[in-house]
Amino acid sequence: MSLDTVQNLIREVEDFKIDTSSDLENFRLKFLSKKGLIGEVFSLMKTIAPQDRKQFGQQVNLLKQNAEEKFESFKLQFEEKTEQQQLIDITLPGEPLESGAMHPLSIIRNRIIEIFGAIGFTVSDGPEIEDDWHNFSALNFTEDHPARDMQDTFFVQKNPDLALRTHTSSVQVRIMENNKPPIRTISPGRVYRNEAISARAHCFFHQVEGLYIDKDVSFADLKQTLLYFAKEMFGTDTKIRLRPSYFPFTEPSAEMDISCTFCKGEGCNICKYTGWVEILGCGMVDPAVLENCKIDHQEYSGFAFGMGIERITMLVYDINDLRIFSENDVRFLKQFKGIG
Ligand code: DAH
Repeated sequence: MSLDTVQNLIREVEDFKIDTSSDLENFRLKFLSKKGLIGEVFSLMKTIAPQDRKQFGQQVNLLKQNAEEKFESFKLQFEEKTEQQQLIDITLPGEPLESGAMHPLSIIRNRIIEIFGAIGFTVSDGPEIEDDWHNFSALNFTEDHPARDMQDTFFVQKNPDLALRTHTSSVQVRIMENNKPPIRTISPGRVYRNEAISARAHCFFHQVEGLYIDKDVSFADLKQTLLYFAKEMFGTDTKIRLRPSYFPFTEPSAEMDISCTFCKGEGCNICKYTGWVEILGCGMVDPAVLENCKIDHQEYSGFAFGMGIERITMLVYDINDLRIFSENDVRFLKQFKGIG
């Protein structure tokens, strides 16, 4: 074997045309496989005279290295190509991306914000872990009120002065403490109660609190505001009815019904054949609450109301089980695609 043979082989490696993966395989067989030319050259090394071996060895190594590098680089190219072909096979039918949907409670919450926003109500919020003062005492709850019972409220074990707020009325107090009238705001948020979970009750749900404090605010303002809300939310032919009720923080207090949106007042099982469905509690803010929040009740008066977002949502979308709101069942959630 002469040095020329090796140098010719180096050229041959360089000139070998590789266009396809079978060319590449032929290249491997010819040069790099066990019985390939390079193996043969190596086995002939022992026939080389010792004084020529060094120079020979360098050339043989160069030949081997060139062949291996060429093989590896083409191999990589072909692999990338097939990978790309697999990734974008334009003949395959497309895989549409599932778009998400807004949660129905968010849709309705936003709608409530929009409706009250149109008549000047801002949006405010407060903490979900609340102290006794803001959740109960400032709102006139007596010491022995059942809501203060562990059976009804989740207290923080290490500090019984703290509890998960049981209603968004706590935000009322914070707003009145920190702002001067006129105040016109709604406070949507999550609330917690120590209730067994069923179709009609849950240990957490959502409310929207409303508060309006100014000079000369009357019950007529309350009624008109809520009538406007009911018509915007449930349709212009909706009627409202206020029934006397009791809340520690309002005087007088009322519960508001709307005419049943399902049977239009004729009587059905949604309205329990009364033609009316209760949707919220409301009243004139009790002067004692105003004083607790350092607002002069001689100068100012106001109204408040509180409603459950789940309740409104169930009426709007004809949903009959509270639990479904927090189960994250996609079959339920995807029905709200494109809304809101
Ligand atoms: N906080 C009451 C509840 O959770 C709802 C409520 C009733 C809020 C009357 C009010 C109100 O602001 O005036 O049941």
